[in-house]
Amino acid sequence: MIVTIDGPAGAGKSSAARALAARLGFRFLDTGAMYRAVTLAAIERGVDLEDADALLDVAKSIHIDLADGLVQLDGRDVTRAIRTFEITTATRYAADHPGVRAHLVALQQKWADHLDVVAEGRDQSTVVFPHAECKIYLTASEEVRADRRYLDMVNRGEHVSRAEVLDKQRDRDTRDCTRAVGALTKTPQQIEVNTDGMSQDQVVERLMELVLEKQTAAAPATPSEAAPS
Ligand code: DC
Repeated sequence: MIVTIDGPAGAGKSSAARALAARLGFRFLDTGAMYRAVTLAAIERGVDLEDADALLDVAKSIHIDLADGLVQLDGRDVTRAIRTFEITTATRYAADHPGVRAHLVALQQKWADHLDVVAEGRDQSTVVFPHAECKIYLTASEEVRADRRYLDMVNRGEHVSRAEVLDKQRDRDTRDCTRAVGALTKTPQQIEVNTDGMSQDQVVERLMELVLEKQTAAAPATPSEAAPS
């Protein structure tokens, strides 16, 4: 079974998707981590992020491993390194690049082949797994999302202001919703969950309910004991 969780930055998708996957015994596919890893590799190699050909070369030359809750870039643990403000801001070049997107989409589909997966991102239900059995759109108000992101960054020792985080988040929302390929869109098949005022546990509970409803609806009807033979 494929469960997709799409939504804007700061809606709490990563933590909710990771916890949901653990509860279900599914694998967790963090697609944002892949765009971030491409960006980190490009910056480390001194590649100009605006050089589309060079950025695509980087994407195709690296190995990203997403096993066991870690993000490994060519065998090196970059789980934390890809979450800095610098990488978060610079990732737009990889995310806006149609060639990089096509490459990562193919990797994501291959990764999930024949597995039970919770996949999180922007284009998971629309582009990557259009046949997913359960599609969720996880969101929260702009202010709540910015507060969460700001606290997260401060707790990691980053020096940013809340206003700066909100400002960049607005930029990312606009980019996420308007990019030519893989834009974040809400379709009628996606079930919207607004996480304003919900704890992480409550969010995961709600997502579990939605997945179980879909699993029950898809299960073949059991023959009635009373049915005549
Ligand atoms: O979800 P995140 O913050 O880790 O995503 C990092 C960036 O990658 C963000 O700018 C949106 C982009 N992204 C994307 O374009 N498509 C995805 N499937 C996942 C993330």
